Amino acid sequence: MKDKNNLRPKFHITADKGWINDPNGLVYFNGEYHVFYQHYPNDVQWGPMHWGHVVSKDLLNWKRLPIALYPGDEYDKNGCFSGSAIVWKDKLYLIYTGFIENGGGENIRQIQCLASSTDGVNFTKHGKIIDETLLPNGYNPSEFRDPKVWQENDTFYMIVAGKKINGKGRVLEFKSKDLFNWEFVGDLFNEDCDGEMVECPDYIKDLGLLLTSEQFPRRLKELHLNVHTTRWHKGEFDVEKGTFKEEVRGIVDYGFDFYAAQTFLKEPIAIGWLQMWDRNIPYKKHGFAGMLSIPRKLSVKDGELYQQPVIAENTQIKKTVKETLQDLAETGIIKINLESVEDFELKLRKKGDQYTLLKLENGKWLFDRSKSGESIEGAEQDELSKKGIRVMPKSNLKENNITIVMDLFSVEIFIDGKAMSSVICPEENSAGIELKVKAKNCQYERASIDASVDFE
Ligand code: FRU
Repeated sequence: MKDKNNLRPKFHITADKGWINDPNGLVYFNGEYHVFYQHYPNDVQWGPMHWGHVVSKDLLNWKRLPIALYPGDEYDKNGCFSGSAIVWKDKLYLIYTGFIENGGGENIRQIQCLASSTDGVNFTKHGKIIDETLLPNGYNPSEFRDPKVWQENDTFYMIVAGKKINGKGRVLEFKSKDLFNWEFVGDLFNEDCDGEMVECPDYIKDLGLLLTSEQFPRRLKELHLNVHTTRWHKGEFDVEKGTFKEEVRGIVDYGFDFYAAQTFLKEPIAIGWLQMWDRNIPYKKHGFAGMLSIPRKLSVKDGELYQQPVIAENTQIKKTVKETLQDLAETGIIKINLESVEDFELKLRKKGDQYTLLKLENGKWLFDRSKSGESIEGAEQDELSKKGIRVMPKSNLKENNITIVMDLFSVEIFIDGKAMSSVICPEENSAGIELKVKAKNCQYERASIDASVDFE
């Protein structure tokens, strides 16, 4: 039951109570979008993983359903880890990783499991479908998780994160005719990935894009400082041979808090975890920890990933800005169109000396949450991270389009198809907006957002 004094994001998916991490099983079934998520209902911290469940007709207004998967069977004794969903012969199937702790370390077992439902609410578990007996020699059965399944013609394909013993992350492929019996196809890159472990691989066939979430990848100066990150890889995936030839790669989100993104099979719309491992979560005093990002429509433009938020807006204010503008709003959408911008500084969630800042500096977009409110610290020990700063490249376009989605504890910034998302924890009623700009033309528009997540 929601405590009326507790604050919640207005339109981001959170747990009714307790903890959320990765989005799981994004699927369209019987006229509704289903989103599941890694969930621990008993505390505001990670624990034995369940699959929480919400549904929506429009990707904006979400209704809560009962927990779909509980851990505790022999094959998922200590957790139902991340995975995906697919509809086949009028049934909804969930394919997930059973986690068996076994005392930890190399005794851990991660095995792929199946569950199904006819009504999309109640699920029957079918147990393990892939365990270490199907892994080729040399792969680590303790690090083998997060299956993503899709169908081409009459074959189901799965990509799943793996690792060679003493190696780094790999992406493995399996195939099946019936979702129950699987065989190994290949190791997509056939070499170690950058991260110590790959997690939550996802494939968007129509765009030729593979997504990977990587733990402890090499970090690349100011543009890539997070210790865990979600990457896109554009290339050619030969599903019969089990090979992926990468042409280009990039970072999905330049902000502090976006990880483990997954897409719907029906259309290239992604949702990520709008939080990050190894950070304190000041807002958990309100009874929830972790939230999911707003859905984002993915496409490829000029060979690169291009992202736009899926939102429905009610325009409140539209203005041409000469040099400065002041406005008020804690939540909603801000859209700014800039022509030939020279200087730009936008303060959001301003109250007294608290504010969250987006500005143009040395030809790049700089996000600063050092004065946003309660302090958030992470595993990153570099100067910029400690200062609360993230940097995103600026396109060379003459016109720049900014869309900012603001909720009570987050900002998701989209500029010319690139994204930068972060958690913030300002005081209540911090609603000031201040814009200072030098540009040939600047159009400002603010909208309230038409979206919600229901609570009991
Ligand atoms: C990614 C991840 C997955 C795993 C899940 C456990 O954030 O570590 O690899 O399945 O979270 O909750």
